[in-house]
Amino acid sequence: MGLQYSAVQWNRQKRIYDFVLAGGVGAFLILFGVLSKVLFPFVTDEIMLMRAFAAAAFVLLHVILCIGPLCRLNKNFLPLLYNRRHAGVTMCLLGLLHAALVVITYHAGGDTNPILSIFKGSPLTASIAGVPFQPFGFFALVILLLMAATSHDFWLANLSAPVWKSLHMLVYVAYGLLVLHVTFGVLQAEVNSLYVIATGLGLAVVLGLHVTVAFREAPIDRELAHSRRHEEAVIPKSGIRNPKPKTGQNLVTSPAIEDGFIDACAVADIPEKRARIVCLSGERVAIFKYDGKVSAISNVCQHQNGPLGEGKILDGCITCPWHGYQYRPDTGASPPPFTEKIPTFAVRIHGGRVLVDPKPREPGARVEPALVP
Ligand code: HEM
Ligand code: FES
Repeated sequence: MGLQYSAVQWNRQKRIYDFVLAGGVGAFLILFGVLSKVLFPFVTDEIMLMRAFAAAAFVLLHVILCIGPLCRLNKNFLPLLYNRRHAGVTMCLLGLLHAALVVITYHAGGDTNPILSIFKGSPLTASIAGVPFQPFGFFALVILLLMAATSHDFWLANLSAPVWKSLHMLVYVAYGLLVLHVTFGVLQAEVNSLYVIATGLGLAVVLGLHVTVAFREAPIDRELAHSRRHEEAVIPKSGIRNPKPKTGQNLVTSPAIEDGFIDACAVADIPEKRARIVCLSGERVAIFKYDGKVSAISNVCQHQNGPLGEGKILDGCITCPWHGYQYRPDTGASPPPFTEKIPTFAVRIHGGRVLVDPKPREPGARVEPALVP
């Protein structure tokens, strides 16, 4: 988590994760090899291995892409997210082995540079409209290698979370390139058309899950903003329910409006040691209640933008539900020796309502928690 490079910090959960990952990949490769030998006995060992590594990488990429939306739909999938980066690096290595075997088998024998030869056209016959499919695989591999090389938290800290996140969003470009690579490649090789059907099904699952989550989440922000507006209408920003206007009282000059604080939610709506997420000025803010206090921080984890408001307070720290990064609720800073910091928001409680200043404080800036009366 710091700017210093430190090797992977192993723990029991990571070991189990990697054990299951390696076991799953090993079982897939063995099964693929056995089935290939039985169904296609004429296929050479190199080609069988080349295809086994390719299929394992492609299947693993589907799993990796589905983990995110699955976790949004059901928290039981969260353990899969925990060490997803190791799955990504494994997938990249499998793709690299496939590409290396392709280059050795198809491209190393001629007088052209093997890498240039990838771009010179397909060694396979019956090209569909002559589309050269191997460059798609090449560019996908370049992206996967870039992502694998920067997957360590050292790069996350040095590049900054938004840059790192944007870089790693390229996985969708790599996926698109691989769908083209496999579709055109398989069509050209005239291998079993089951591959194309499986690729189409995989694409439908990946897209279907992402679209489902997008549809489910889009109304949340709208609802949060709407319910806040609605509450503001019913409950004036002074935070007092059904106030009886007194002569001369001007709601606009009530303290809550004067200094820009916004009525976010009722204190009673926040479960103990958990948060209520609200959308203030277009930004998601997590309002936590703990030990008779209330604090508000940005909902976005510094690590990989995990939803902090869906986490809980453990050992006095807000704990991200994705990979367990922790932040103190009053400062938004990770406990030492870690150095992550997220923005905090000033809060107060009035008439059982939590009022939040929508202007974020500097990341790591301490804000006095509001005391629950
Ligand atoms: C320099 C990069 C790459 C090159 C030159 C390349 C080349 C090839 C070739 C020649 C085939 C047809 C193999 C055959 O069936 O005889 C193929 C198939 C395939 N490739 Fe690649 N590839 C590259 C990267 C990748 C990567 C990174 C992935 C996945 C992560 C991938 C996934 C696949 C899959 C799933 C198939 C279909 C498997 C099959 O034919 O049985 N490729 N590729
Ligand atoms: S996103 Fe990884 S710990 Fe929060």
